[in-house]
Amino acid sequence: MLLTDVIIGLQHGDEGKGKIAYNILKRGKYSYCIRFNGGPNAGHSIKDKEKNIDIVLHQVPCGVLFGITSIIGSGCVVDLLKLQTELEYLENKGFSDIRTHLYLAFNAHVIGRQHIMLDNDSIIGTTGSGIGPCYSDKYKRIGKRCIDFQKTIESMKLQLINPLSYFASLPSHVKYEVLCEGAQGFSLDIDWGDYPYCTSSSCIASCISTSGIPHKSIRCVYGCCKLYDTYVGNKPFQPKNNELLETLAEAGQEFGSTTGRKRQCNWLNMDSLKQAIFINGCTHVIANKCDIIEKSRAFVIDGKKFNTF
Ligand code: IMP
Ligand code: MG
Repeated sequence: MLLTDVIIGLQHGDEGKGKIAYNILKRGKYSYCIRFNGGPNAGHSIKDKEKNIDIVLHQVPCGVLFGITSIIGSGCVVDLLKLQTELEYLENKGFSDIRTHLYLAFNAHVIGRQHIMLDNDSIIGTTGSGIGPCYSDKYKRIGKRCIDFQKTIESMKLQLINPLSYFASLPSHVKYEVLCEGAQGFSLDIDWGDYPYCTSSSCIASCISTSGIPHKSIRCVYGCCKLYDTYVGNKPFQPKNNELLETLAEAGQEFGSTTGRKRQCNWLNMDSLKQAIFINGCTHVIANKCDIIEKSRAFVIDGKKFNTF
């Protein structure tokens, strides 16, 4: 019997999902950790002062840091070259046995160099990781999947898995806790995001089923947000000449963890947040960066710029 908790973003990504996943895994008793959408466009920052950990994960589920069996799910797209680099980066940080815990869904699609070359748009302002072109090939049914790269994957000392047959054959009388770690967020979702200024995958909790986890097994949905909103990409999002928002961006250190681009900042969009909570069926909402509102207020008062904030 699976008991699944899902972490998802309620805004435009960068809500602090990595930090939440890390802390939930630290306290929980999870047997599995799964990424179910997206690919190297994601950047999940994790900091643990006690353990001197300061890392950014892109494709690898956070569970590997705890020795939990982790899967890059069927709904993901995988860049094997970047995955190798990420694994080496983690190994150099002391996580030496991560490859023994990491599995790749046999049917996750693989990002090729051609996808990255084609991902050079100037309209949306993508991360340039080949996400859109790779998902396009998937839906055109001309893509290459992990199973087509079995030898390469085995030479990376990683294993393939069929998550559906694996989870379906677990004994039903035993409880297994699963953590699904979403990438991006509601406002970047291919269906409910601000099309075309969105990503190419589904970022909603129920989409865990595309990665072999039944949605009926969901116990908790942790929706993550910030107390303000940020967006990385080419549509205008941050009102011009608004010094208060500039201050907020500065206090929040709002730079993309994958591309280093400056994140545009705006105030919390309550209407959008309500819809995101509704469609994801959130049982919990976690608001991050509350201290930044406070910090920027102090900053402003010290600078005597906005004494009415
Ligand atoms: P793509 O996912 O690289 O195709 O990019 C599409 C849009 O989603 C762009 O505006 C990206 O900046 C944004 N995006 C993709 N992944 C993330 C993420 O993990 N955090 C924040 N923005 C993202
Ligand atoms: Mg991020």
